[in-house]
Amino acid sequence: MTQAEKEIRFQEKIDREIKIEPNDWMPDEYRQTLVRQISQHAHSEIVGMLPEGNWITRAPNLRRKAVLLAKVQDEAGHGLYLYSAVETLGTSREQTIDDLHSGKAKYSSIFNYPALTWADIGTIGWLVDGAAIMNQVALCRTSYGPYARAMVKICKEESFHQRQGYESLMKLCSGTPQQKAMAQDAMNRFWWPALMMFGPSDADSTHSDQSIKWKIKRFTNDELRQSFVDATVAQAEILGLTIPDPNLKWNEARGHYDFSEINWEEFWQVVKGNGPCNKERLAARVKAKEEGAWVREAATAFAKKRAMKKSA
Ligand code: 3HC
Repeated sequence: MTQAEKEIRFQEKIDREIKIEPNDWMPDEYRQTLVRQISQHAHSEIVGMLPEGNWITRAPNLRRKAVLLAKVQDEAGHGLYLYSAVETLGTSREQTIDDLHSGKAKYSSIFNYPALTWADIGTIGWLVDGAAIMNQVALCRTSYGPYARAMVKICKEESFHQRQGYESLMKLCSGTPQQKAMAQDAMNRFWWPALMMFGPSDADSTHSDQSIKWKIKRFTNDELRQSFVDATVAQAEILGLTIPDPNLKWNEARGHYDFSEINWEEFWQVVKGNGPCNKERLAARVKAKEEGAWVREAATAFAKKRAMKKSA
């Protein structure tokens, strides 16, 4: 079968909603874009642990500490799940992690913003995990089998993440004026970076057209962003928080909220590594790998010794 015939047959499988599995033939470009997207998704999960992990010891009470601990542990599991999905595409864990540390691979821009107050932690749960859910529910139907199956488990846990964040903000917004003000300040700082999580506008998206054709993506960046805004406005109103966008307005004709243009200059600066916390985040990941080397060496030595004992 020629390359062209293989590609036609591959696209027919995609069009007939047949999941692509690791041992199936796939175009190199399909494999590469999956490695790119899934590895960056995994990096986002792991780097996303940093701003939240920083607040575990400063949670206001034992319950909040236990909930935040559970969430951060979940994110580690999501990262490992997704790194395993990358390995099914033939890319080693070592290579994937090195690509992050060398700056070759990206992670979500949102994690380059600092978590300055306790209200940020609730806002991250509500807005950041809320945006992630909007994107990840669609990915439960992505054409690559291992990725789609990983998403089903991850989405269940993300729902808990969003709810715990929203509950924490409900507490603050019904608390003292200072607590309410702290929640509004967090909203002001995280609203626009949360919208940026969905990626550049469709006009500027490099990969969307092909990813939609291959059903890696089911919706475009702007479609998911719009769904997120439409779903979140009422939630903010219940909290009594103001969304920092004077042009946010329901458009009956469109059946959606109109909102202001995103500051794409800021978005691309953060993506390029010039955000408030980019350097700190990458340094933390490199340090974790270096400090964890002895654990990997000990585990490898133990495994070798046990294998030798078995074969003796
Ligand atoms: N931050 C950093 N880089 C971004 C970005 C963002 N928010 N949005 C887009 N980019 C990058 C893309 O990676 C691409 O660069 P590359 O070619 O070097 O990879 C470039 O900008 C052009 O963007 P495209 O729209 O063409 O790229 P995609 O088609 O890949 O769409 C995406 C971007 C929507 C993020 C898509 O990759 C995706 O759906 N990824 C899976 C979901 C994901 O990664 N979510 C991140 C958050 S996970 C999370 O929040 C964890 C939760 O527990 C809180």
